[in-house]
Amino acid sequence: MTQVSIRPLTRNDVPFLRRMLDAAAFWRPMPSALLPRLRQRALRPVLRLLVRNYLGLYHREWGRPGDAGVVAEVDGTPIGAAWYRLFSEASHGDGYIDERTPELAIAVEDGHRGHGVGRALLLAVADRARSDGLERLGLSVDADNPAKRLYASVGYRELAPDDPEGRMVLDLRS
Ligand SMILES: CC(C)(COP(=O)(O)OP(=O)(O)OC[C@H]1O[C@@H](n2cnc3c(N)ncnc32)[C@H](O)[C@@H]1OP(=O)(O)O)[C@@H](O)C(=O)NCCC(=O)NCCS
Repeated sequence: MTQVSIRPLTRNDVPFLRRMLDAAAFWRPMPSALLPRLRQRALRPVLRLLVRNYLGLYHREWGRPGDAGVVAEVDGTPIGAAWYRLFSEASHGDGYIDERTPELAIAVEDGHRGHGVGRALLLAVADRARSDGLERLGLSVDADNPAKRLYASVGYRELAPDDPEGRMVLDLRS
């Protein structure tokens, strides 16, 4: 069986985080019914560029106070990561709850999914957050993403029914 190890995330992992953010943002293939095929092909890079610019929120200038995370590796090669960052009222992503609750991002490389790596990352990053003295972690997830079940199984609860941002929160004290 493949041996997966989990280690703290460092600044050197930022290029990997970018790839993982792409995987998280584009977890669902774009529906081909949305646009005629040709226009879709032309628009896809533009859409990706816009989304990647937005996703910079989750890794730009990594190493700010409150930034932390974990990386899963096989034979020294990263295969997944879970990390969190504090945001402010003035600048934040979809999973923002308040200035004391960091937002979590997670993804596992395609080909390594469904083998417990995501769960191990979620547990490890929650331990890290507890040792950082945090009370809660938040995230945002699309209503139809199967990852919702995984989050719920490790203790995340919906912030509110029908929350437009699909926010879930983990109480680290319970
Ligand atoms: C979500 C994700 C991080 C989970 O990691 P993982 O290693 O596949 O998860 P685990 O093996 O520990 O747990 C499996 C659970 O994850 C969920 N899951 C989500 N996407 C999955 C996928 N592509 N393959 C398998 N499981 C998936 C399922 O709920 C599954 O539970 P189930 O057995 O009840 O169906 C990973 O599948 C992934 O990177 N998906 C694409 C990016 C994404 O959606 N990120 C989250 C954005 S909010």
